[in-house]
Amino acid sequence: MKQIKLGVNIDHVAVLREARKVNDPDILQALYIACESGADQITIHLREDRRHIQDIDVKNILQFSKVPVNLECSIDKNILDIVSSVQPHRATLVPEKREEVTTEGGLDLFTYENEIAYAIEQLHDGLIPVSLFVDPTIQAMEQAKKLGAEMVELHTGLFANLFAMLNSSLPKSNHALKELNLPRYELSDRLENALEQLKLSARHAKQLGLEVAAGHGLNYHNVGQIVQIEEIIELNIGQSIIARSLFTGLREAIKEMKSLTSS
Ligand code: PXP
Repeated sequence: MKQIKLGVNIDHVAVLREARKVNDPDILQALYIACESGADQITIHLREDRRHIQDIDVKNILQFSKVPVNLECSIDKNILDIVSSVQPHRATLVPEKREEVTTEGGLDLFTYENEIAYAIEQLHDGLIPVSLFVDPTIQAMEQAKKLGAEMVELHTGLFANLFAMLNSSLPKSNHALKELNLPRYELSDRLENALEQLKLSARHAKQLGLEVAAGHGLNYHNVGQIVQIEEIIELNIGQSIIARSLFTGLREAIKEMKSLTSS
């Protein structure tokens, strides 16, 4: 049986807390429950705008987590200095735009080649392994290797969006994705294509000696297809787990996801 590591992203607990600026829900309570319920890793994103995770959360989570902590961050110098000083088990470099709702695409490893290389060097100097959050393309895998990363995290957002437009009520809702307002056969072709890109990229990355993770938009309905990709050893999942936990509790939500990520 293939056991994929489940990184539980608990940013959304902090989103709810920051909505009221009170210490409720308590992110450390989420941390304890996640560790107890089978999370193999905790993932958090220290954004430049601090819209959810705060610096003190990073310190506390690193101090009290019973599993490794994957700290997502941009290549901003101040953020990198913080990451280097707190020494997470791994740093994942992600693109960041202030106006975005969430991380909308992979890192552009070509336009920001020098900045990313410098960021990787700084993190490596602090003995922090680096993953790069990238779109699933062969070129990105090669560039990630060239830049010296240990791991890539494949952005599954396009796959997840296409899956949702085909298999849920999303197209009829006011969150329908206008750019994917396409006939079903077209969505179906694109979904197959997106999955194929993920498979080819994962295979290529592994051949290059990179470890392969995936994440973004994964949920209880679509994760099964990603789990089938042999080279993927880790998934980072946030929104769907925290959303489900409102109705089932966090323990149950994580256990259920764990059962789906063991193929
Ligand atoms: N992986 C990375 C690099 C991310 O930026 C995010 C979103 O913060 C996730 C995984 C989790 O995505 P989601 O919340 O859609 O599960």
